[in-house]
Amino acid sequence: MKKIKLKIKTKIMLMNMAILIPTIVFIYIITINNLYSNVIKNSIDFLTKESYTTQLYISNYIEKYNEKNVEDNFLSKSSLINTYISNRLRFRTQIYNKNGEILEDSVMDSLSLYDEDINNAIKGNKAYIVKKIDGNIYILFSSPIYFKNNTLGCVRYVYCVDGGKKLIDNMFIIMGIIAIIAMLISWLLSNIFSNNIAGPIKKLKNISEKVAAGEYENRIDIKSGDEIEDLSKTFNKMSYNIKTYIESLKEERKKQKDFLDNVTHEFKTPLTAIIGYSELMPRLKEKEDIDDSLFYIKKEGTRLLKLVDELLYLSKLGKSEFIIDKTRSNLKKIVEESLTTMEPRLEKYNIEIVKNLFDITLVIDKDKTKQVILNVLDNAIKYSECKNITISMKIENSSIVLNITDDGIGIKNEDLEKLFEPIYRGYNLNNEDKGNGLGLSICKEIMKKQKGNIFISSEYKRNTCVKIIFNKSNFFIQEDIKNEKN
Ligand SMILES: Nc1ncnc2c1ncn2[C@@H]1O[C@H](COP(=O)(O)OP(=O)(O)OP(=O)(O)O)[C@@H](O)[C@H]1O
Ligand SMILES: [Mg+2]
Repeated sequence: MKKIKLKIKTKIMLMNMAILIPTIVFIYIITINNLYSNVIKNSIDFLTKESYTTQLYISNYIEKYNEKNVEDNFLSKSSLINTYISNRLRFRTQIYNKNGEILEDSVMDSLSLYDEDINNAIKGNKAYIVKKIDGNIYILFSSPIYFKNNTLGCVRYVYCVDGGKKLIDNMFIIMGIIAIIAMLISWLLSNIFSNNIAGPIKKLKNISEKVAAGEYENRIDIKSGDEIEDLSKTFNKMSYNIKTYIESLKEERKKQKDFLDNVTHEFKTPLTAIIGYSELMPRLKEKEDIDDSLFYIKKEGTRLLKLVDELLYLSKLGKSEFIIDKTRSNLKKIVEESLTTMEPRLEKYNIEIVKNLFDITLVIDKDKTKQVILNVLDNAIKYSECKNITISMKIENSSIVLNITDDGIGIKNEDLEKLFEPIYRGYNLNNEDKGNGLGLSICKEIMKKQKGNIFISSEYKRNTCVKIIFNKSNFFIQEDIKNEKN
């Protein structure tokens, strides 16, 4: 069976009508019935009263005659009596003898009106019957006529309640009109109320469609003061939570991407060193030099393995972030180790290193710091076409600054601002080993995680200076700094 789909508004209106119509019909029936009973009751009261007057009149009338002839008198004068009564009352009256036979009728017609009321009346009881004759309601009211405890016969009033019927008919019409007006008003009010209820629901439906389509920033403002308002608040909370959840997912995705970039970049440096040393080795004659190269190849290989371990560990933890593992490390040593890693390439490009370093113990992540220095050196080799790289350490505003300056082609001002953005690469892509533009942004991230920083400045076509800053929180022994100052 096909399910009929009705809108909430239609349902509310139908429900109201379903309550209203039976109520109106019920009131209608009760009122009309009451009215009808009242009309009949009033008529009966009237006829009862009238029957006493008639009894009195007949008694007085026949009393004038000889007592013995009272019954005869009644029978002979019944025509006069009936005419008198019907003239006075202006409706049909009849007189019956004590056997229930009609003696007089103020209206002569063939209509048989004999009924039980006459039987009761001649037995001495007032009785009536309500009958519908020719579309009119009649009360056939019979009252016995006594004379000194003897029933002589009965008078019967054929009373048409047309006045009452008219009243009932009028009432019928008036109530009909009232019922129609009530239904119209109810329809109108139902319409307004159902709009009040259905409106917010419609609003809720529209917004939820938008949210379902991915527009999570949509909010509903319903002030209906009922459950729908509560529902809209819950809905807003829900879409806010979905939005936050989706944003966190996006963030997580971005993190994962950054992580992947980071990993690949970190893999690149040791691999480049291994390739550099293996390219250098065939040209080496001294066993000592070959051993050195093998040592560095092993060292960088071990670093790679460590990286893979770290990756596996992170993947087990379900994290996509590198851990900064701060330990006491000598910055000078880190710089020197980085230079050793870069040695084959520095030699290949005939680059001179000028060092001005001092021993200082910092609390930093050794490998990550090395990664920063390696990237800066790698950039200088790859892009700057320099002949000299100066590496110096300085104490500036209670920070340790590691300056790495090359005398290469420099960087244009407009590039300088964007170098730390991921995937940004400068104009001077004159090196066969083109990078991905990730190095400096990773360096920035590493330095910030260590509470330090990295900046780059350059004089175009003259030099590039990279400042790697470690601040107070990275100091292990303050004394070291003081010693160096002296
Ligand atoms: N010493 C420098 N001299 C000239 N240009 C430089 C120097 N250092 C960096 N750059 C410019 O800055 C850009 C960004 O360097 P970054 O290290 O972020 O990326 P990359 O070296 O290109 O790629 P990756 O490091 O991911 O392999 C380089 O593409 C280069 O144009
Ligand atoms: Mg780089």
